[in-house]
Amino acid sequence: MKILHISMECYPAAKYGGLGDVVGALPIYLNKAGVSTAVIMPKFATKWLNQQRYREVYQGHVRLHNDYVWFAIEEVQNEGLGFPLYVVNLPGKFDRPGVYGDPGGGWYGDEVQRYLCFQQAVLKWVVDMQWKPQILHCHDHHTGLIPFMVKHCPEFHSLRNMPTVFTIHNGEYSGAFSWQNAHLLPYFDANARWLLDWGNTICPLAAALKCCWRFTTVSPGYLEELKYNAAGLEPLVNSEMPKAWGIINGIDTALWDPSTDKYVSYKLQKGNIAEYKEINKAKLHDRFRIIPDLPIVTFIGRLVREKGADLLPEVMRRVVGSGVRVGFIVLGTGEPDLMREFAELKNQLPGFYDASLEYNEGLAHQLYAGSDFLIMPSRVEPCGLNQMYACRYGSIPIVRSVGGLKDTIIDIGEQGGRGIRFNQFTVEDAAMAIFRAVKVYNNPEVLASLRERIMAVDFSWERSAKDYMRLYNELS
Ligand code: GLC
Repeated sequence: MKILHISMECYPAAKYGGLGDVVGALPIYLNKAGVSTAVIMPKFATKWLNQQRYREVYQGHVRLHNDYVWFAIEEVQNEGLGFPLYVVNLPGKFDRPGVYGDPGGGWYGDEVQRYLCFQQAVLKWVVDMQWKPQILHCHDHHTGLIPFMVKHCPEFHSLRNMPTVFTIHNGEYSGAFSWQNAHLLPYFDANARWLLDWGNTICPLAAALKCCWRFTTVSPGYLEELKYNAAGLEPLVNSEMPKAWGIINGIDTALWDPSTDKYVSYKLQKGNIAEYKEINKAKLHDRFRIIPDLPIVTFIGRLVREKGADLLPEVMRRVVGSGVRVGFIVLGTGEPDLMREFAELKNQLPGFYDASLEYNEGLAHQLYAGSDFLIMPSRVEPCGLNQMYACRYGSIPIVRSVGGLKDTIIDIGEQGGRGIRFNQFTVEDAAMAIFRAVKVYNNPEVLASLRERIMAVDFSWERSAKDYMRLYNELS
């Protein structure tokens, strides 16, 4: 094994958002390209993980203040994944149905303890491995203390020269916690204390940026934005810039293929896009109460501010109120207030809006296939994968010009356009983008050629995997 990816999420074992998709796909493509790559994650009590068979490869204890917490590392026995997957079995810590909280409930509340146990368990295993990985690749703040621990904790001293790569999928969350919890950390060199600190807290994201050998963001555009908008970490991002790489995510084009997708009942056949879209759209009408013949604009994702979900209700009221005939569908779960608002909206816009307020992977696939447009009004978007899934399934993206959305979706006003972009995070700008979308929809020739063009775009991982390989080569 050359590269060990360390992450909270990995599709299909456990997924909350795009992090899961990326960690479940990139290793497949790295392995295909000859870079042997494995993933390690916590052993959650998700449906998929509950159904697997395991082979135990290691056992140990991590110290958590006065406790010694037992753990085991187990290898998932599943040939179909395309990469070796290991899980850390930490009874009482991760054997729960959700990744960050129970489905539909709040955060678990003991994340500091959980992430500390997980990170140390991984490192203990690596310390004792006979054939060690060449590079540790950590994802998001939950694994952000690893670059610090390998350098500054006596226990992991033998790993101090092992290069670490840290990928920021979401810089909005830093994992910061109070210094009052410092007793939970493994012993570390007191001179290195400042490396953990940001704003008088222990900040895993900051520690990762300071200690890792290289850090990456999931799009070049997001890296630029982080220089002046990084939830308080801007000075650090700027001073660590020499080791930064912006690498755009890809999508798993084998999994996301409209001609073979198991969730899509009417698959793309012989390149007949019009028929495929029409039949899948008709199927959506069986499930969602939307007046037939309207263009359908869909939102899929977490109902949180970061994704701009809070803007949508007013946008929909405005558009429908203006007399323009569009149907909206929403799929997702998130903040309780927003969930309530999206539920109530069904009574306010009957026939023009419907929603399924849940996480539903299969329904998401059907919506990409059956919708005409996909809207992403994100405040922040480190990369965004849904706009790429939408293109591949022939739904035209309507996106705000931020981060990875800007890097992947060219406006139809330009050469090679792929979708509709708007700049300001305002109801007016978003509504205007929808009006433009309706114009496209009402022009069958333009619609058909745009669908054909976006479905042919190559968003596959091959290209991005090459960038990661260049990065790894620089370190080994
Ligand atoms: C996070 C980001 C999203 C990105 C994904 C995968 O979920 O919010 O923009 O696509 O990670 O990197």
